[in-house]
Amino acid sequence: MQIKKHIYSFGYDNTESDLCKLESRYIFKKEEKNKLLLSDIKAEPSSSAFIKKRLDVISFSKDYATLINEIKKESICMEGFKVEYLVFDGDTTEYAERLKKLKDIGFSIEGNPDYYNPIITYALCYYEGIWCFGILIKNNLSWYKHKEKPCSYSNSISINIAKALINIATKTNKEKTLLDACCGVGTIMLEACFAGNDIEGCDINWKVCRGARENLSHFNYTANVYRSDIKDISKRYDAAIIDLPYNLFSCATDNDVLHILESTAAITDRLVIVSTADITNLISKTGFVIVDYCSVSKRGKTNFARKIWVCEMKG
Ligand SMILES: C[S@@+](CC[C@H](N)C(=O)[O-])C[C@H]1O[C@@H](n2cnc3c(N)ncnc32)[C@H](O)[C@@H]1O
Repeated sequence: MQIKKHIYSFGYDNTESDLCKLESRYIFKKEEKNKLLLSDIKAEPSSSAFIKKRLDVISFSKDYATLINEIKKESICMEGFKVEYLVFDGDTTEYAERLKKLKDIGFSIEGNPDYYNPIITYALCYYEGIWCFGILIKNNLSWYKHKEKPCSYSNSISINIAKALINIATKTNKEKTLLDACCGVGTIMLEACFAGNDIEGCDINWKVCRGARENLSHFNYTANVYRSDIKDISKRYDAAIIDLPYNLFSCATDNDVLHILESTAAITDRLVIVSTADITNLISKTGFVIVDYCSVSKRGKTNFARKIWVCEMKG
């Protein structure tokens, strides 16, 4: 019987399904399925907008009674614990039975439970014929604070996409240096800083640069924002994210887009590009190859979609 060290559960709406799968390919090297994923890779739930919970498996068994014995053998002694039942796809256990099982677990742990302010949360689940018990880590949503950034911008990308772009660009490696080539008010930069990556931003518009600096300092993050045309940046980065201009506020011709793409391509070997238009023909002119792709439509606006290309330098 094979079980991985961690069981992840995900939450997203239909419009974000492909983005969640794209992100999960770069965090876990495989896609989540039915909002669940088993992996030996340990990822912080709050590093993604889509990971809801991670169960660190302590014991598992096909047989429930054996699982309870295994838990008892662990001799867990813990004050202020809580136990939750995770209902996964395919688990038909009735509510009353689930409560009974939670009690069984509670009696297998030494110490007093605390349902309201637990120090640690354990969980039980039934997945593909196997009972699993472990420690439950939830997405603490502390990154929600970025929703209250002081400077906003009508062309800003959503936080969910921004977090995914960081994971896709860095493959969750905190050592990777990043450039946000068209940073606007720094939505993507905030998520890189939260993730612990070094990022710098560049934007041709001084007003949004000022906004990005204000947003970063509001959350006590330190990162350079250059008021510059991207062509004047010569420093190299491990990866660059380009959220290309669109609509009336920051419109761009094919020539402008190609200028931004070629200037950024000159200072990195990995690009993650966001655009509302299909620019595959322009990307091919940069010498980069498209290695992955997805499209994210806006909730309630099916005719507005952002396309995301992951590109690498040829050879
Ligand atoms: C879609 S917006 C980016 C929004 C940003 N991701 C945010 O969430 O605030 C595109 C940005 O590209 C900038 N831009 C356009 N041409 C540029 C260039 N040549 N070099 C640098 N930035 C440029 C625009 O000023 C605009 O702020």
